[in-house]
Amino acid sequence: MARDRSIFVCQQCGYRTIKWLGKCPDCGTWNSFAEERVKGRGVGDEVATTATSPVRLPEIKVEAGFRVSTNISELDRVLGGGVVPGGLILIGGDPGIGKSTLLLQALAGIVESSGSSGLYVSAEESLSQVKLRAERLGIDSSHILLLSETTIEDILRVIEDTKPGMVVIDSIQTIYCRELSSAPGTVGQVRECSARLMECAKGRNIPVFIIGHVTKEGSLAGPRVLEHIVDTVLYFEGDRSMAFRILRAVKNRFGSTNEIGIFEMTDRGLREVRNPSEIFLRQRQVSVPGTVTASTIEGTRPFLVEIQALVTPTTFGVPRRTSIGVDPQRVNLLIAVLEKIGGIQFGIADVYINVVGGLRLVETAVDLPVVVALVSSFREMAVDYSTLFFGEIGLSGEVRTVAQPEIRLKEAEKTGMKRVVLPEGNRERVEGRTGMEVIGVKSLTELLEVVFNG
Ligand code: TYD
Ligand code: MG
Repeated sequence: MARDRSIFVCQQCGYRTIKWLGKCPDCGTWNSFAEERVKGRGVGDEVATTATSPVRLPEIKVEAGFRVSTNISELDRVLGGGVVPGGLILIGGDPGIGKSTLLLQALAGIVESSGSSGLYVSAEESLSQVKLRAERLGIDSSHILLLSETTIEDILRVIEDTKPGMVVIDSIQTIYCRELSSAPGTVGQVRECSARLMECAKGRNIPVFIIGHVTKEGSLAGPRVLEHIVDTVLYFEGDRSMAFRILRAVKNRFGSTNEIGIFEMTDRGLREVRNPSEIFLRQRQVSVPGTVTASTIEGTRPFLVEIQALVTPTTFGVPRRTSIGVDPQRVNLLIAVLEKIGGIQFGIADVYINVVGGLRLVETAVDLPVVVALVSSFREMAVDYSTLFFGEIGLSGEVRTVAQPEIRLKEAEKTGMKRVVLPEGNRERVEGRTGMEVIGVKSLTELLEVVFNG
């Protein structure tokens, strides 16, 4: 006989238990368990079984990699070349970053490129709010259907009735399943709703996008619990006070996770940034102390960025070390190498590092430009802005080679760079193949010699 029973689910990591616990044994969070009612299966209940059998590997037919373009090439690239029908795609990001805007634009793009209709389900905003946004974006297609609904049952029924070619759910934290008694946004609800949406995407063979807010602590389940369920996870990030937005894939069953898409938030929606180097170097005209042009590669795309350092005497207490855009640990390491091998004492100085444009650089190829920026600010000596720097620095002050020097130089040449300082090990591969002056360095000492005494 079937009867309801209670289970307790950790709101942080989704750990399930039949009794309440003060501390989650899985993720260690205190006070994170919430009760959920589930339909239990009693003794003697029939268990539905379906007969499935395995298939021999050579007999499996691979469907051609059919993809639909969103008409937004930055988004297409991050998705691996367009959306795959049947794919469930999660877009996470802080509130206000532009997720609703991006997906409304994507929906309009897909409707246009595929000729089918698209359904935008808003559980957060009223229809007139969505309409106002669409007006702002210049979207006015009669193939776009809007629905303001919060229960998964009704949403699925509308999808069944209207048969759209693509669905957007805004957002997963605000919809709920009537069968569960827990509140919208709890792990159980988020999981159940996503599982049903997955079924819908696969069953109807249409792409389904879900928006998820990244939440900190509290009772709302962050989209992290969903990452296992969905096919693709994209994160939309950037500083809200700045116009640039970066779309990054952290999981993709249909493509690589290296690619990023760059957008600029304008008063008429998100604009694609096709040539990032120009944007990140836009305000650059003169050589000033502490500012250096660096090269970095995100996915398959090289671009140039400006790294700034500010070294000032500490006026009170312990020296501050702040870094935005470069890992602070990495900066500390480079400062230590500069002190020990370069003989430059930062001991009583505050050090600030910033990457212009709000980018986050993870590549070690930015070691060399960071070091040059630090010394440039420390010594109040400007570095020529048409000189490009890249290279990794080891703990003993050696300059190590980095990947793909050729495409970095190609990009630099396009943006009008005249000179490049790179690891000696990379020099041979590029010398004579570029119009730029190429200077190879083997060590930190040699680097400082070339840049500041040469
Ligand atoms: P929104 O897509 O609502 O963010 P999210 O869904 O991630 O919460 O967009 C949020 C911000 O973008 C909001 O502060 C207004 C701004 N915005 C523009 O600057 N230009 C525009 O054309 C639109 C539609 C929004
Ligand atoms: Mg929104």
